[in-house]
Amino acid sequence: MVKKYSFGKIFNTEAVVKKIAPEKGKMPFFRQQNNDTKDGILFIYGMEKEDKVYGLGEQVRGINKRGHLYINNCTDDPVHSEEKNSLYGAHNFILVDGRERFLVFFDTPEKVTFDIGYTDMDVITIETAIDVDCYIVTGNKLLDIVKEFRTIIGQSYIAPRWAFGYQQCRWSYMNEDEIREVVKGHRENNIPLDTVYMDIDYMESYKDFTINEKAFPKFEKFVEEMKKEHVRLIPIIDAGVKIEKGYDVYEEGVKNNYFCKDKDGKDFVGAVWPGKVHFPDFLNEEARKWFGKKYKFLLDKGIEGFWNDMNEPAIFYSDKGLQEAFDYVDSVRDTNVDINSFFTLKDKVLGIANSPADYKSFYHNTKEGKICHDKLHNLYGYNMTRAAGEAFDEMVPDKRILMFSRASYIGMHRNGGIWQGDNMAWWSHLLMTIKMLPSLNMCGFLYTGSDMGGFGANTTEDLVLRWTQFGVFTPLMRNHAALGTRKQEPYQFKNVEDFKNIIGIRYGLLSYIYSEYMKAALNNEMYAKPLAFVYEDDAHAKEVEDQLIIGDSIMIAPVYTQNTMGRYVYLPEEMMAVKMRSLTEYDCKVLPAGHHYVDVDLNEMIFFIRPNHLVPMTYGGESTEEVDFATLKVFGFVKKNTTYELYLDDGVSKDYGKKENYMEIKADKKGNLTVNNDKITVKESVILNK
Ligand code: GLC
Repeated sequence: MVKKYSFGKIFNTEAVVKKIAPEKGKMPFFRQQNNDTKDGILFIYGMEKEDKVYGLGEQVRGINKRGHLYINNCTDDPVHSEEKNSLYGAHNFILVDGRERFLVFFDTPEKVTFDIGYTDMDVITIETAIDVDCYIVTGNKLLDIVKEFRTIIGQSYIAPRWAFGYQQCRWSYMNEDEIREVVKGHRENNIPLDTVYMDIDYMESYKDFTINEKAFPKFEKFVEEMKKEHVRLIPIIDAGVKIEKGYDVYEEGVKNNYFCKDKDGKDFVGAVWPGKVHFPDFLNEEARKWFGKKYKFLLDKGIEGFWNDMNEPAIFYSDKGLQEAFDYVDSVRDTNVDINSFFTLKDKVLGIANSPADYKSFYHNTKEGKICHDKLHNLYGYNMTRAAGEAFDEMVPDKRILMFSRASYIGMHRNGGIWQGDNMAWWSHLLMTIKMLPSLNMCGFLYTGSDMGGFGANTTEDLVLRWTQFGVFTPLMRNHAALGTRKQEPYQFKNVEDFKNIIGIRYGLLSYIYSEYMKAALNNEMYAKPLAFVYEDDAHAKEVEDQLIIGDSIMIAPVYTQNTMGRYVYLPEEMMAVKMRSLTEYDCKVLPAGHHYVDVDLNEMIFFIRPNHLVPMTYGGESTEEVDFATLKVFGFVKKNTTYELYLDDGVSKDYGKKENYMEIKADKKGNLTVNNDKITVKESVILNK
């Protein structure tokens, strides 16, 4: 059941798609109180010791969010260490599981602070703006509550099936030849590959919707050439539009007042990669439509996917911020700088980027009038991606376009996925992404993944390999690294064969991963779940944070520690352990419920099949186009008659959910398999039925 409680009058974020009339009475669960001293409302909830608190989507720390202060305020911060409070997204919901069970979503474009047992271990205090719509969702099971929430926020974005293949990125593929090298590196080593990303260097002076013609002299031909290799090129689009006379995007934006304005009504100036830029006013419908149509420039050149970046928006500096810092430096330059003024000086300089003062200094021209950016901050990236998504629906209505963003708000999950931003080549970040995945799924971000191997800092072969083994299960499976870091494409390392095999396993699992993704998206369900949501009555399962249920049949337990060739795993029930070195080399055995130590060598990965579940696999391929999705090898652990519902469509059109896309694979308790559809054939099976 969903109930809405409105406080003040919020700017319509359009996060919720279902019309829900607000309740008159007092909001349940919270000891709500108005805060006299600040411009906001505090919502207070007393927790029992055993209460668990899930949610918050893209945030630091655990699946259970207790014990930290989270500030949902879209932030470009590349150091996602434990003490941080904000990342790129603002997903303002929590799901409390304990004495009472409910989900609450605070719908407001402004910053929301969640103190979840931070100030007082047993108290949740949420502080929002005075204008906020609260949605309380209740239900029996945790998964039912999530489903109900997802139903009111609308269906998740669906990527083309080729975007479930392996993807390679690096900031600094400078020209056609460097990209050809990347493709060659994969193809020569038989490492599957479906896309190569084009970071800012493909543009002319980092200007959106331009091509650096020196580096890419025959761009359209090059796109074609790559497609012949079964590789799609995915260009980046940044939020800031370079200020440059004669540049069409800039000229049109200025002429039509499509950019955000400063307090004097002039186009606001910030600086990002291109230097000085204006920021498109994505909160203005006309400007949003205009920007969306700009993607046509690349669609017309054969491009079928994009990633939207720097859309918190990131602001490296504004003239005003810079001037203030200079003034301070001047004011202390000839003084005997003491330790206090030294630190002030340091803070002033470091505080130039993404400064709250800058976010307070520009305005949007919205349907509801002129509004300061600060009041709408968390909607900016969402509306940039919405601009693209809505334009694709108009320009190529029957075709899926790959789209994911860095900044996001709930609602954007209908227009695109997200990647988890600029992480580091740290083992702790491998664990963080494992924990973040189900939290993102709760609020509809199903198409997601992290920069495998780590974006910042120099990585190591074993970290990339372990991360790739986890990445096998994330819908977005992309290796990405920052300019200047050690190269980390799989073929850069000594044991290339291991990467080939592990990525090969992804292509084998594609039929399962795609089928589970599609069912989750179409039914408003989770693709990746915490054990706590599937084994609600198992006290131990509730505490497991480093294993996940992927789809319905598989439990994963990734290795995320350096120099360990195995790990402890908790099995809430008897399961079939599948240890794979490649699609053709594997061992399977049944393990009883309970605690186990499983050996997982560096070149292996392990996953577990739940009892009376099947996992359809393909025979692989070096690109999704090469994969034969109709010929299957079925793995399963079967003790009674079991049915797997396989979802299969053409992977590119939008005619989702047609009846004929659903097929059944049935196993009897002896392990004999039948299919109800002549579109698919089961050629082999590996069924344990002990
Ligand atoms: C940002 C993005 C990163 C990209 C870089 C250069 O840091 O998050 O993925 O590589 O900008 O465009």
